Amino acid sequence: MSALRYPREEGEPTAPRWVTVGRTEDIPAGHAARVDIHGTAVAIVNCNGELFAIDDTCSHAEASLSEGELYPDECAIECPLHGSTFNLRTGEPLTLPAVEPVRAHRIAVEDGLIKVALEED
Ligand code: FES
Repeated sequence: MSALRYPREEGEPTAPRWVTVGRTEDIPAGHAARVDIHGTAVAIVNCNGELFAIDDTCSHAEASLSEGELYPDECAIECPLHGSTFNLRTGEPLTLPAVEPVRAHRIAVEDGLIKVALEED
């Protein structure tokens, strides 16, 4: 077991900072919502009862992915502006014009509360 050391070395991983963003009943299956976590817009998406958290802003231009159409069979969401679809598990674009991924963040449920830990850039 490794002990935490302070101050951390540059580049050393930091412990995730979990932030409560809502309750599970706020985002039923087939729905998405945008939340703000320390100034970062994050899309919380419920695909077939499984929750995902990805960057809300499309990697192609300024569009809110939480406003896009959800494809539950693939657990993908379509950008409402130009139609790229993104894998909710990985953030990878599945179709053009987007070629860069969005970040996929850690998400957990505890006592009915949805918690998200932002991935670093
Ligand atoms: S803004 Fe999302 S595909 Fe262009």
